[in-house]
Amino acid sequence: MKNPGQAVWTKVDRYFGALLAPGDHALDAAIKANELAGLPQIDVTPLQGKFLEFLVRATGARRVLEIGTLGGYSTIWMARALPAGGRVITLELDPHHARVARRNLEKAGVADRVEILVGPAIETLPKLESPDAGRGAPFDLIFIDADKQGYPEYLTWALKLSRPGTVLVADNVVRQGKVIDEKSKDPHIQGVRMFTEMVAAEPRLSATVLQTVGVKGYDGFTLAVVLG
Ligand code: SAH
Ligand code: DHB
Ligand code: MG
Repeated sequence: MKNPGQAVWTKVDRYFGALLAPGDHALDAAIKANELAGLPQIDVTPLQGKFLEFLVRATGARRVLEIGTLGGYSTIWMARALPAGGRVITLELDPHHARVARRNLEKAGVADRVEILVGPAIETLPKLESPDAGRGAPFDLIFIDADKQGYPEYLTWALKLSRPGTVLVADNVVRQGKVIDEKSKDPHIQGVRMFTEMVAAEPRLSATVLQTVGVKGYDGFTLAVVLG
């Protein structure tokens, strides 16, 4: 069969999305609010949001760390899947994005379970190091989805903030296949490549990559678990 390409990926994403990850009022309103506020439309897709929900449920995660909030669309998916008393800490550089996210999280009824830390992640991550009653390390699930140049440093921090069994997920590691261009001058690509090499060399991690296609094109997730 001929490689079906973007038009089919989009239709198939919509087919499964409509069945398994149908929007609801809060999720749809968040996407709309992001657009009205001029945020880039780079949220995870509905099926990817459902995948994050799945990971929270399957791991029984109570403490989730997200690096890169944007308008909180992925945050809503994860926060909804938490057990009672669970929390998401989400890190966002841009105060405007954080404001939009806070409104979206409030409207979704999950603001009480989510804390947004505003500033460069490299400055907010150290604040999470000391364990303090549910607000800090160790995290059960860590979703890395901010600036791709930062991924190597975020990996170092993710390991510091983990325990054996912690699941790490990183978005956008394939970038339409550009990841294999070792001479790329794009700092995003170099960031993802260095991140992947660090993951590969890290004896405390067992990891794989899932390539994905869908409405956002061709990309992928790194999935890793911290070994005991
Ligand atoms: N997880 C979101 C999408 C995140 S987009 C979702 O799926 O809904 C990436 C976000 O990372 C953007 O909002 C961007 O402002 C933020 N970001 C970029 N550089 C950052 C940094 N150094 N520290 C924290 N956040 C950063
Ligand atoms: C970009 C960032 C993302 O997190 C994403 O999911 C898609 C695109 C970007 O910076 O282009
Ligand atoms: Mg992303």
